[in-house]
Amino acid sequence: MTEIEAWRQRRNESPETAFTRLNLLGASPGFRETLRIIERIAGVDATVLIQGETGTGKELAARALHYLSSRHEFPFIPVNCGALPDNLLESELFGHERGAFTDAKTSSRGLVAQAEGGTLFLDEVEAMTPRAQVVLLRFLQDHTYRPVGGRQVASGNLRIIASSNVDLEGMVRRGEFRRDLLFRFGILNVTMPPLRERGRDVVLLAEHFLDCFATQYERPRKRLHVKSVDWLLSHDWPGNIRELENLMLREFLLADGEVIRIAPMRQAEAEKACDPIDADETFKSAKARAIAQFEKNYLRHLLTEACGNVSLAARISHKDRSTLNKLVKKHGLASDRFRTGSPRNPR
Ligand SMILES: Nc1ncnc2c1ncn2[C@@H]1O[C@H](COP(=O)(O)OP(=O)(O)OP(=O)(O)O)[C@@H](O)[C@H]1O
Ligand SMILES: [Mg+2]
Repeated sequence: MTEIEAWRQRRNESPETAFTRLNLLGASPGFRETLRIIERIAGVDATVLIQGETGTGKELAARALHYLSSRHEFPFIPVNCGALPDNLLESELFGHERGAFTDAKTSSRGLVAQAEGGTLFLDEVEAMTPRAQVVLLRFLQDHTYRPVGGRQVASGNLRIIASSNVDLEGMVRRGEFRRDLLFRFGILNVTMPPLRERGRDVVLLAEHFLDCFATQYERPRKRLHVKSVDWLLSHDWPGNIRELENLMLREFLLADGEVIRIAPMRQAEAEKACDPIDADETFKSAKARAIAQFEKNYLRHLLTEACGNVSLAARISHKDRSTLNKLVKKHGLASDRFRTGSPRNPR
């Protein structure tokens, strides 16, 4: 199939199929909403700022924006802004003519020229030096630039997508990032939700990774033990999907049988089993600790079963809704982290 035929075929595909092809998987309502935003703004030819914690899929989202846009047949060029040295900044971005500086034995096209017609993805903009911020701001004003040592001013026809994993507003307030540059970047905005707020997506993604590894390593498929599923749902995932992917790979490679019992879970169980009762601890305090542990475990299971719906959880557990709500808050279990489409087992 030619490129054009493939593109024609793709144009008829549903957004759902497109996102699966682009590897952006997830079914939780919050993530679905993010995909709807990506789909809507892909066709709007303006600068986009993608924000989100580390490992939440910002680069995948940037690629999706590019491949769903009319620029998809032109290049997608990622630039790690933290790796742009101040002394070679203009030369890296705008290229240089032969002899422009001592080491310039030949002329070179910069990243902007390489992305001509397509998308320049400025990754980790929070790591830009103050000088890089000024240079980029100037370029963003009218998309014109001059290669180092060149006479002619060139005009770049490209779309800029920027990404950051820190709060740029905060950096602006602390004087670490230029407000005018933030305005230029953030004409359109996408925020990638953290994994801990994506309900059962963590399970869907874990199973997806396990399937991929089975194919990649040509080994039999493996499945998650029910307790592994509970552990995945209760973990906070500071490294988000990348952390999950790495953990699944380790578990896949190290698991003896066909069932995966996640190591941190085994460790937590072992700790719990020998949770020492301090010789000086009073009966009252040991009992309070055991009860708190029981409550937290019980609530996790209950909320998973009820997909975060506290009213349903109250009915299942025969507890009063407001009492249950207080317990959920007491144990720091935001009910929306368990939220998915519909309850698994409504009773
Ligand atoms: N929705 C998703 N479905 C499947 N895989 C995903 C999804 N989102 C991210 N991934 C995978 O997770 C990993 C991290 O994604 P990506 O590099 O896009 O994150 P990032 O936000 O750019 O991270 P960082 O801030 O660390 O640069 C990649 O291997 C990517 O393929
Ligand atoms: Mg990234």
